Amino acid sequence: MTNPSLLILPGDGIGPEVMTEVRKIIDWFGAKRGITFDVSEDLVGGCAYDKHGTPLHDDTMAKAQEVDAVLLGAVGGPKYDNLDFSVKPERGLLRLRKEMDLFSNLRPAQCFDALADFSSLKKDVVAGLDIMIVRELTSGVYFGEPRGIFEEGNERVGINTQRYTESEIDRVARSAFDLAMKRGKKLCSMEKANVMESGILWREVVTEVGKDYPEVELSHMYADAGAMQLTRWPKQFDVIVTDNLFGDLLSDLAAMLTGSLGMLPSASLGAPMDNGRPKALYEPVHGSAPDIAGQGKANPCACILSFAMALRYSFDMGEEATRVEQAVNKVLGDGVRTADLLNEEGITPATTAEMGDAVIAALDASL
Ligand code: NAD
Ligand code: IPM
Ligand code: MN
Repeated sequence: MTNPSLLILPGDGIGPEVMTEVRKIIDWFGAKRGITFDVSEDLVGGCAYDKHGTPLHDDTMAKAQEVDAVLLGAVGGPKYDNLDFSVKPERGLLRLRKEMDLFSNLRPAQCFDALADFSSLKKDVVAGLDIMIVRELTSGVYFGEPRGIFEEGNERVGINTQRYTESEIDRVARSAFDLAMKRGKKLCSMEKANVMESGILWREVVTEVGKDYPEVELSHMYADAGAMQLTRWPKQFDVIVTDNLFGDLLSDLAAMLTGSLGMLPSASLGAPMDNGRPKALYEPVHGSAPDIAGQGKANPCACILSFAMALRYSFDMGEEATRVEQAVNKVLGDGVRTADLLNEEGITPATTAEMGDAVIAALDASL
Protein backbone atom coordinates (compact mmCIF):
# COMPACT_ATOMS: atom_id res chain seq x y z
CA MET A 1 0.00 0.00 0.00
CA THR A 2 1.29 3.47 -0.80
CA ASN A 3 1.71 6.00 1.97
CA PRO A 4 -0.84 8.80 2.24
CA SER A 5 0.47 11.95 0.54
CA LEU A 6 0.57 15.38 2.07
CA LEU A 7 1.61 18.67 0.47
CA ILE A 8 2.82 21.20 3.01
CA LEU A 9 2.65 24.91 2.16
CA PRO A 10 4.03 26.83 5.16
CA GLY A 11 3.54 30.24 3.52
CA ASP A 12 4.46 33.53 5.20
CA GLY A 13 4.91 35.13 8.61
CA ILE A 14 4.21 32.68 11.41
CA GLY A 15 3.14 30.05 8.85
CA PRO A 16 6.60 28.39 8.66
CA GLU A 17 7.02 28.68 12.45
CA VAL A 18 3.83 26.81 13.31
CA MET A 19 4.42 24.32 10.48
CA THR A 20 7.79 23.35 12.00
CA GLU A 21 5.86 22.07 15.02
CA VAL A 22 3.46 20.13 12.80
CA ARG A 23 6.46 18.49 11.10
CA LYS A 24 7.54 17.23 14.53
CA ILE A 25 4.13 15.61 14.96
CA ILE A 26 4.22 14.06 11.50
CA ASP A 27 7.66 12.63 12.34
CA TRP A 28 6.31 11.35 15.65
CA PHE A 29 3.60 9.41 13.83
CA GLY A 30 6.26 7.79 11.62
CA ALA A 31 8.54 6.90 14.53
CA LYS A 32 6.00 5.91 17.18
CA ARG A 33 2.88 4.80 15.33
CA GLY A 34 4.32 3.39 12.09
CA ILE A 35 2.20 5.85 10.10
CA THR A 36 4.34 7.40 7.39
CA PHE A 37 3.21 10.19 5.12
CA ASP A 38 4.79 11.07 1.78
CA VAL A 39 5.40 14.72 2.55
CA SER A 40 6.37 17.31 -0.03
CA GLU A 41 6.78 21.01 0.61
CA ASP A 42 6.29 24.04 -1.59
CA LEU A 43 5.69 27.78 -1.63
CA VAL A 44 2.47 29.77 -1.44
CA GLY A 45 1.74 33.44 -0.84
CA GLY A 46 4.36 36.17 -0.52
CA CYS A 47 7.30 33.75 -0.49
CA ALA A 48 6.06 32.24 -3.79
CA TYR A 49 5.76 35.73 -5.23
CA ASP A 50 9.35 36.51 -4.16
CA LYS A 51 10.63 33.44 -6.00
CA HIS A 52 8.29 33.12 -8.99
CA GLY A 53 6.49 36.47 -9.32
CA THR A 54 3.19 34.74 -8.58
CA PRO A 55 1.63 33.76 -5.21
CA LEU A 56 0.96 30.24 -6.52
CA HIS A 57 3.05 28.61 -9.24
CA ASP A 58 1.16 26.37 -11.69
CA ASP A 59 3.35 23.41 -10.67
CA THR A 60 2.32 23.89 -7.04
CA MET A 61 -1.33 24.09 -8.08
CA ALA A 62 -0.92 20.83 -10.03
CA LYS A 63 0.71 19.12 -7.03
CA ALA A 64 -2.13 20.26 -4.77
CA GLN A 65 -4.61 18.58 -7.12
CA GLU A 66 -2.75 15.26 -6.92
CA VAL A 67 -2.08 14.74 -3.22
CA ASP A 68 -4.44 13.25 -0.64
CA ALA A 69 -4.37 16.46 1.39
CA VAL A 70 -2.79 19.91 1.52
CA LEU A 71 -1.74 21.55 4.78
CA LEU A 72 -1.23 25.32 4.67
CA GLY A 73 0.25 27.67 7.29
CA ALA A 74 -0.70 31.25 6.47
CA VAL A 75 -0.15 33.82 3.75
CA GLY A 76 0.28 37.58 3.59
CA GLY A 77 2.10 40.36 5.35
CA PRO A 78 2.86 44.08 5.21
CA LYS A 79 5.76 43.54 2.78
CA TYR A 80 3.19 42.62 0.14
CA ASP A 81 0.50 45.18 0.95
CA ASN A 82 1.27 47.38 -2.04
CA LEU A 83 1.51 44.63 -4.65
CA ASP A 84 -0.95 44.58 -7.50
CA PHE A 85 -4.18 42.92 -6.38
CA SER A 86 -3.76 40.06 -8.86
CA VAL A 87 -0.48 38.87 -7.29
CA LYS A 88 -1.21 39.53 -3.63
CA PRO A 89 -0.38 36.55 -1.36
CA GLU A 90 -4.07 36.02 -0.52
CA ARG A 91 -4.79 35.38 -4.23
CA GLY A 92 -2.66 32.21 -3.99
CA LEU A 93 -4.86 30.83 -1.24
CA LEU A 94 -8.05 31.84 -3.04
CA ARG A 95 -6.82 30.12 -6.21
CA LEU A 96 -6.17 26.90 -4.30
CA ARG A 97 -9.66 26.99 -2.82
CA LYS A 98 -11.31 27.79 -6.13
CA GLU A 99 -9.43 25.41 -8.43
CA MET A 100 -9.64 22.53 -5.96
CA ASP A 101 -13.35 23.42 -5.67
CA LEU A 102 -13.23 23.31 -1.86
CA PHE A 103 -16.76 24.54 -1.34
CA SER A 104 -17.28 23.43 2.25
CA ASN A 105 -15.11 25.06 4.90
CA LEU A 106 -15.41 23.48 8.34
CA ARG A 107 -14.43 25.82 11.15
CA PRO A 108 -14.98 24.22 14.54
CA ALA A 109 -15.06 26.39 17.65
CA GLN A 110 -14.39 24.18 20.62
CA CYS A 111 -13.60 25.47 24.05
CA PHE A 112 -10.80 23.49 25.63
CA ASP A 113 -11.58 22.98 29.34
CA ALA A 114 -8.39 24.64 30.47
CA LEU A 115 -9.20 27.79 28.48
CA ALA A 116 -12.76 28.35 29.71
CA ASP A 117 -11.43 31.02 32.09
CA PHE A 118 -9.52 32.73 29.34
CA SER A 119 -12.39 33.71 27.04
CA SER A 120 -13.52 37.31 27.13
CA LEU A 121 -16.98 35.90 27.88
CA LYS A 122 -18.15 34.43 31.19
CA LYS A 123 -16.97 30.90 31.91
CA ASP A 124 -20.46 29.34 31.95
CA VAL A 125 -21.19 30.86 28.52
CA VAL A 126 -18.24 29.09 26.87
CA ALA A 127 -17.38 26.04 29.01
CA GLY A 128 -17.99 22.88 26.98
CA LEU A 129 -18.70 24.86 23.81
CA ASP A 130 -18.53 22.72 20.67
CA ILE A 131 -19.94 24.25 17.51
CA MET A 132 -19.11 23.85 13.84
CA ILE A 133 -19.36 26.67 11.35
CA VAL A 134 -19.70 25.50 7.76
CA ARG A 135 -18.65 28.37 5.51
CA GLU A 136 -19.30 28.28 1.76
CA LEU A 137 -15.83 28.89 0.33
CA THR A 138 -15.76 29.08 -3.45
CA SER A 139 -18.49 31.51 -4.40
CA GLY A 140 -20.45 34.50 -3.12
CA VAL A 141 -19.05 38.01 -2.99
CA TYR A 142 -15.46 36.71 -2.95
CA PHE A 143 -15.76 35.53 -6.56
CA GLY A 144 -18.95 37.04 -8.07
CA GLU A 145 -18.84 39.10 -11.27
CA PRO A 146 -18.88 41.98 -12.05
CA ARG A 147 -16.06 43.05 -9.80
CA GLY A 148 -13.40 45.73 -9.96
CA ILE A 149 -12.71 49.41 -9.52
CA PHE A 150 -14.24 51.46 -12.34
CA GLU A 151 -14.46 55.09 -13.39
CA GLU A 152 -17.99 56.43 -13.07
CA GLY A 153 -18.45 60.07 -13.98
CA ASN A 154 -15.80 62.01 -12.11
CA GLU A 155 -15.15 59.41 -9.43
CA ARG A 156 -14.27 55.74 -9.01
CA VAL A 157 -16.60 52.99 -7.91
CA GLY A 158 -15.56 49.71 -6.26
CA ILE A 159 -17.79 46.76 -7.13
CA ASN A 160 -18.13 43.23 -5.80
CA THR A 161 -21.10 41.02 -6.46
CA GLN A 162 -22.82 38.57 -4.15
CA ARG A 163 -23.87 35.68 -6.37
CA TYR A 164 -25.07 32.19 -5.50
CA THR A 165 -26.54 29.51 -7.76
CA GLU A 166 -29.01 26.97 -6.40
CA SER A 167 -26.51 24.13 -6.88
CA GLU A 168 -23.81 25.99 -4.95
CA ILE A 169 -26.18 26.47 -2.02
CA ASP A 170 -27.48 22.91 -2.30
CA ARG A 171 -24.06 21.25 -2.05
CA VAL A 172 -22.80 23.24 0.91
CA ALA A 173 -26.15 22.78 2.67
CA ARG A 174 -25.90 19.01 2.18
CA SER A 175 -22.40 18.96 3.65
CA ALA A 176 -23.70 20.87 6.69
CA PHE A 177 -26.72 18.57 7.12
CA ASP A 178 -24.44 15.51 6.81
CA LEU A 179 -22.26 16.91 9.60
CA ALA A 180 -25.27 17.75 11.74
CA MET A 181 -26.41 14.12 11.41
CA LYS A 182 -23.07 12.99 12.91
CA ARG A 183 -23.28 15.58 15.70
CA GLY A 184 -26.21 17.10 17.60
CA LYS A 185 -28.70 17.04 14.68
CA LYS A 186 -29.25 20.79 14.82
CA LEU A 187 -28.49 23.15 11.94
CA CYS A 188 -28.86 26.92 11.88
CA SER A 189 -28.57 28.64 8.50
CA MET A 190 -27.51 32.30 8.49
CA GLU A 191 -28.04 34.87 5.72
CA LYS A 192 -29.72 38.23 5.30
CA ALA A 193 -32.91 37.25 3.50
CA ASN A 194 -34.43 40.48 4.81
CA VAL A 195 -32.26 42.62 2.53
CA MET A 196 -30.58 40.35 -0.05
CA GLU A 197 -32.16 38.31 -2.84
CA SER A 198 -29.25 35.89 -2.62
CA GLY A 199 -30.30 35.42 1.01
CA ILE A 200 -33.88 34.66 0.00
CA LEU A 201 -32.65 31.98 -2.41
CA TRP A 202 -30.22 30.66 0.21
CA ARG A 203 -33.05 30.21 2.72
CA GLU A 204 -35.34 28.53 0.15
CA VAL A 205 -32.71 26.05 -1.03
CA VAL A 206 -31.52 25.16 2.50
CA THR A 207 -35.15 24.56 3.51
CA GLU A 208 -35.65 22.31 0.47
CA VAL A 209 -32.49 20.29 1.21
CA GLY A 210 -33.71 19.97 4.80
CA LYS A 211 -36.60 17.78 3.59
CA ASP A 212 -34.01 15.08 2.90
CA TYR A 213 -32.85 15.31 6.53
CA PRO A 214 -36.04 15.06 8.60
CA GLU A 215 -34.07 14.18 11.74
CA VAL A 216 -32.15 17.46 11.69
CA GLU A 217 -33.80 20.40 13.43
CA LEU A 218 -33.32 23.30 10.98
CA SER A 219 -33.56 26.96 11.95
CA HIS A 220 -32.80 30.21 10.13
CA MET A 221 -31.32 33.40 11.46
CA TYR A 222 -30.29 36.72 9.98
CA ALA A 223 -26.49 36.81 10.08
CA ASP A 224 -26.33 40.01 12.16
CA ALA A 225 -28.66 38.48 14.77
CA GLY A 226 -26.54 35.32 14.52
CA ALA A 227 -23.43 37.30 15.49
CA MET A 228 -25.33 38.65 18.49
CA GLN A 229 -26.60 35.18 19.50
CA LEU A 230 -23.10 33.72 19.12
CA THR A 231 -21.81 36.10 21.78
CA ARG A 232 -24.96 35.93 23.97
CA TRP A 233 -25.35 32.15 24.27
CA PRO A 234 -23.19 30.24 21.76
CA LYS A 235 -24.14 26.85 23.19
CA GLN A 236 -27.57 27.12 21.55
CA PHE A 237 -25.80 26.19 18.27
CA ASP A 238 -24.57 22.87 16.95
CA VAL A 239 -23.81 23.35 13.23
CA ILE A 240 -24.10 26.72 11.49
CA VAL A 241 -24.11 27.01 7.69
CA THR A 242 -23.50 30.35 6.03
CA ASP A 243 -22.03 32.06 2.99
CA ASN A 244 -18.43 32.96 2.23
CA LEU A 245 -18.27 36.48 3.69
CA PHE A 246 -20.58 35.98 6.68
CA GLY A 247 -18.67 32.77 7.41
CA ASP A 248 -15.36 34.64 7.36
CA LEU A 249 -16.63 37.12 9.95
CA LEU A 250 -18.59 34.71 12.13
CA SER A 251 -15.71 32.24 12.32
CA ASP A 252 -13.29 34.89 13.62
CA LEU A 253 -15.92 35.84 16.17
CA ALA A 254 -16.38 32.18 17.16
CA ALA A 255 -12.60 31.84 17.41
CA MET A 256 -12.42 34.44 20.15
CA LEU A 257 -15.17 32.66 22.11
CA THR A 258 -12.68 29.87 22.59
CA GLY A 259 -9.89 32.16 23.77
CA SER A 260 -7.56 32.75 20.85
CA LEU A 261 -7.32 32.69 17.08
CA GLY A 262 -4.21 30.62 17.72
CA MET A 263 -6.37 27.64 18.73
CA LEU A 264 -8.71 27.27 15.76
CA PRO A 265 -8.17 24.81 12.90
CA SER A 266 -10.14 24.45 9.69
CA ALA A 267 -10.78 21.97 6.91
CA SER A 268 -11.78 22.98 3.40
CA LEU A 269 -13.41 20.07 1.63
CA GLY A 270 -14.48 19.44 -1.95
CA ALA A 271 -16.13 16.62 -3.83
CA PRO A 272 -14.99 13.02 -3.21
CA MET A 273 -11.91 11.81 -5.15
CA ASP A 274 -11.50 8.30 -6.61
CA ASN A 275 -10.56 6.98 -3.17
CA GLY A 276 -13.86 8.23 -1.76
CA ARG A 277 -12.18 10.87 0.41
CA PRO A 278 -12.87 14.54 -0.29
CA LYS A 279 -10.34 16.78 -1.95
CA ALA A 280 -9.02 18.74 0.99
CA LEU A 281 -6.95 21.61 2.31
CA TYR A 282 -6.33 22.13 6.02
CA GLU A 283 -5.24 25.40 7.56
CA PRO A 284 -5.47 27.36 10.77
CA VAL A 285 -8.14 30.07 10.81
CA HIS A 286 -5.54 32.67 11.76
CA GLY A 287 -3.33 34.61 9.37
CA SER A 288 0.39 35.28 9.15
CA ALA A 289 0.36 37.46 12.31
CA PRO A 290 3.04 39.94 11.16
CA ASP A 291 3.03 41.58 14.60
CA ILE A 292 4.59 38.48 16.21
CA ALA A 293 6.28 36.78 13.24
CA GLY A 294 9.90 35.70 13.69
CA GLN A 295 9.79 35.97 17.49
CA GLY A 296 8.92 32.40 18.46
CA LYS A 297 5.68 33.61 20.03
CA ALA A 298 3.10 32.01 17.73
CA ASN A 299 0.75 29.41 19.10
CA PRO A 300 1.15 26.30 16.91
CA CYS A 301 -2.04 24.62 18.21
CA ALA A 302 -4.36 25.80 15.41
CA CYS A 303 -2.01 24.32 12.82
CA ILE A 304 -1.47 21.13 14.86
CA LEU A 305 -5.24 20.75 15.21
CA SER A 306 -5.60 21.33 11.45
CA PHE A 307 -3.33 18.33 10.94
CA ALA A 308 -5.62 16.41 13.33
CA MET A 309 -8.55 17.33 11.08
CA ALA A 310 -6.57 15.95 8.12
CA LEU A 311 -6.12 12.68 10.02
CA ARG A 312 -9.87 12.52 10.56
CA TYR A 313 -11.29 13.72 7.23
CA SER A 314 -8.63 12.72 4.67
CA PHE A 315 -6.93 9.69 6.18
CA ASP A 316 -9.76 8.01 8.08
CA MET A 317 -7.69 8.03 11.27
CA GLY A 318 -10.27 9.39 13.68
CA GLU A 319 -8.66 7.75 16.70
CA GLU A 320 -5.27 9.25 15.92
CA ALA A 321 -6.94 12.64 15.39
CA THR A 322 -8.50 12.36 18.84
CA ARG A 323 -5.08 11.41 20.24
CA VAL A 324 -3.63 14.69 18.91
CA GLU A 325 -6.61 16.72 20.18
CA GLN A 326 -6.33 15.14 23.62
CA ALA A 327 -2.59 15.82 23.68
CA VAL A 328 -3.29 19.52 23.05
CA ASN A 329 -5.97 19.44 25.77
CA LYS A 330 -3.51 17.86 28.21
CA VAL A 331 -0.81 20.43 27.48
CA LEU A 332 -3.26 23.26 28.12
CA GLY A 333 -4.48 21.49 31.26
CA ASP A 334 -0.87 21.32 32.45
CA GLY A 335 -0.74 25.10 32.16
CA VAL A 336 1.57 25.37 29.15
CA ARG A 337 0.62 28.64 27.46
CA THR A 338 1.91 30.64 24.52
CA ALA A 339 1.62 34.42 24.97
CA ASP A 340 -1.78 34.65 23.25
CA LEU A 341 -3.23 32.40 25.97
CA LEU A 342 -2.00 34.51 28.89
CA ASN A 343 -3.48 37.66 30.28
CA GLU A 344 -1.55 37.84 33.51
CA GLU A 345 1.69 39.76 33.78
CA GLY A 346 4.73 38.06 35.25
CA ILE A 347 4.29 34.59 33.73
CA THR A 348 6.85 33.61 31.13
CA PRO A 349 5.01 32.31 28.08
CA ALA A 350 6.00 29.14 26.28
CA THR A 351 7.65 29.61 22.90
CA THR A 352 6.24 28.09 19.73
CA ALA A 353 8.80 25.28 19.94
CA GLU A 354 8.15 24.65 23.64
CA MET A 355 4.44 24.32 22.95
CA GLY A 356 5.13 21.86 20.10
CA ASP A 357 7.52 19.85 22.29
CA ALA A 358 4.93 19.72 25.06
CA VAL A 359 2.39 18.28 22.60
CA ILE A 360 4.96 15.64 21.56
CA ALA A 361 5.54 14.75 25.22
CA ALA A 362 1.78 14.42 25.72
CA LEU A 363 1.58 12.20 22.64
CA ASP A 364 4.36 10.01 24.08
CA ALA A 365 2.41 9.80 27.33
CA SER A 366 -0.68 8.66 25.41
CA LEU A 367 0.99 5.41 24.27
P1 NAD B 1 -3.98 37.43 11.87
O1 NAD B 1 -4.83 36.25 12.14
O2 NAD B 1 -2.71 37.20 11.18
O3 NAD B 1 -3.66 38.16 13.28
C1 NAD B 1 -4.67 38.72 14.12
C2 NAD B 1 -4.14 38.79 15.57
O4 NAD B 1 -4.13 37.48 16.13
C3 NAD B 1 -2.73 39.32 15.65
O5 NAD B 1 -2.59 40.12 16.81
C4 NAD B 1 -1.88 38.06 15.78
O6 NAD B 1 -0.68 38.25 16.49
C5 NAD B 1 -2.83 37.12 16.53
N1 NAD B 1 -2.58 35.73 16.15
C6 NAD B 1 -2.97 35.14 15.00
N2 NAD B 1 -2.54 33.87 14.96
C7 NAD B 1 -1.87 33.67 16.10
C8 NAD B 1 -1.18 32.53 16.64
N3 NAD B 1 -1.11 31.35 15.99
N4 NAD B 1 -0.59 32.66 17.84
C9 NAD B 1 -0.66 33.81 18.51
N5 NAD B 1 -1.30 34.91 18.08
C10 NAD B 1 -1.89 34.84 16.87
O7 NAD B 1 -4.89 38.47 11.08
P2 NAD B 1 -4.50 39.88 10.41
O8 NAD B 1 -3.50 40.57 11.28
O9 NAD B 1 -5.80 40.50 10.12
O10 NAD B 1 -3.82 39.51 9.03
C11 NAD B 1 -2.42 39.46 8.81
C12 NAD B 1 -2.15 38.91 7.41
O11 NAD B 1 -2.59 37.55 7.34
C13 NAD B 1 -2.89 39.66 6.30
O12 NAD B 1 -2.02 39.73 5.20
C14 NAD B 1 -4.08 38.77 6.00
O13 NAD B 1 -4.57 38.88 4.69
C15 NAD B 1 -3.48 37.41 6.22
N6 NAD B 1 -4.45 36.36 6.58
C16 NAD B 1 -4.18 35.14 6.05
C17 NAD B 1 -4.98 34.08 6.37
C18 NAD B 1 -4.66 32.75 5.81
O14 NAD B 1 -3.57 32.54 5.32
N7 NAD B 1 -5.55 31.78 5.87
C19 NAD B 1 -6.07 34.25 7.26
C20 NAD B 1 -6.29 35.52 7.81
C21 NAD B 1 -5.46 36.59 7.46
C1 IPM C 1 -9.51 33.35 6.04
C2 IPM C 1 -8.83 34.59 5.53
C3 IPM C 1 -8.93 34.63 4.01
C4 IPM C 1 -10.39 34.84 3.66
C5 IPM C 1 -8.04 35.63 3.28
C6 IPM C 1 -6.63 35.60 3.74
C7 IPM C 1 -8.14 35.39 1.80
O1 IPM C 1 -9.34 35.73 6.16
O2 IPM C 1 -9.13 32.25 5.65
O3 IPM C 1 -10.41 33.48 6.88
O4 IPM C 1 -10.89 35.98 3.67
O5 IPM C 1 -11.05 33.85 3.38
MN1 MN D 1 -10.75 35.28 7.78
